[in-house]
Amino acid sequence: MGYPATEFVRQFRTAVVPAAGLGTRFLPATKAVPKELLPIVDTPGVELVAQEAAAAGAERLVLVTAPGKESLAAYFAESRELEQTLVERGKTALLAKVRHAPNLLTVRTVLQQRPLGLGHAVLQAEQALDPDEISVAVLLPDDLVLPCGVLDAMSRVRRRYGGSVLCAFDVPRAEVGAYGVFDVAPADGDPNVLRVNGMVEKPAPADAPSTYAAAGRYLLDRAVFDALRAIGPGAGGELQLTDAIALLIAQGHPVHVVVHRGTRHDLGNPGGYLRAAVDFALNRTEYAAGLRVWLLDRLGVDDVRHSGAA
Ligand code: UTP
Repeated sequence: MGYPATEFVRQFRTAVVPAAGLGTRFLPATKAVPKELLPIVDTPGVELVAQEAAAAGAERLVLVTAPGKESLAAYFAESRELEQTLVERGKTALLAKVRHAPNLLTVRTVLQQRPLGLGHAVLQAEQALDPDEISVAVLLPDDLVLPCGVLDAMSRVRRRYGGSVLCAFDVPRAEVGAYGVFDVAPADGDPNVLRVNGMVEKPAPADAPSTYAAAGRYLLDRAVFDALRAIGPGAGGELQLTDAIALLIAQGHPVHVVVHRGTRHDLGNPGGYLRAAVDFALNRTEYAAGLRVWLLDRLGVDDVRHSGAA
């Protein structure tokens, strides 16, 4: 599904990207390399979400990092020496790639000293906001939501209803147990915009209130920071963003969800990350043909394009 280009609807200036987690599912690699910098072909997930935020009109990125993850900030800084070397060698295409991340938007980092949960990470970003910023976007860098554009749809919903807007995917009922699942009611007749009554973490399929699973895009009213301060630790002893959103709903704050009819890649685990890498490589002219032939051979599948089968 694509999103139509419409008038400028942005409801936020700052996009928060929480990237201070331990990345335990990628150990041992994440002993030394933040999972947010692992490349999808050649570009880290954190650059892909920064690009998405910039395309949605964000002026700055607040990157929540942790001690030992300094390479994340370095990734968004200019590399003068490297750029000079590429200039001298006439490597203009590579130069453009190297300059892409630093030129996307202004990046500020804030530290989360200890991995106390996604909610706690988002709370650290409040200090970086200007007093007049009444809402903020949050993008999880291990979640690719494709094609880009869902933040624009979410901004339109906030402009209409106020409050906070989340993003969901419609998943097969048998798979709901892997996700946070929304309890929803119709909003205005648009099947892709629903009012959220609550959320259930990892329900059994029979108990799930819907098949709409949460994805890592949030457009949050500034009230979320008070809610984060008001809640205590939840699942896993961590401060959970979903608990703060549940509190907002209980307080009568409007929360809606935009159902994204597209693709999602979960980069937070090796299996999802590999799928994303293969998907992106198959879209790259320099890798697609060779990868396709190799994959088919590896899987023992005849290439229908050459075998004559329909
Ligand atoms: P995840 O739970 O997917 O990341 O959080 P994780 O904790 O690093 O990974 P595992 O479970 O140990 O493998 C989603 C996003 O929230 C950030 C993560 O960096 C990731 O981008 N996060 C999570 C924080 O910034 N701080 C936290 O305390 C927890």
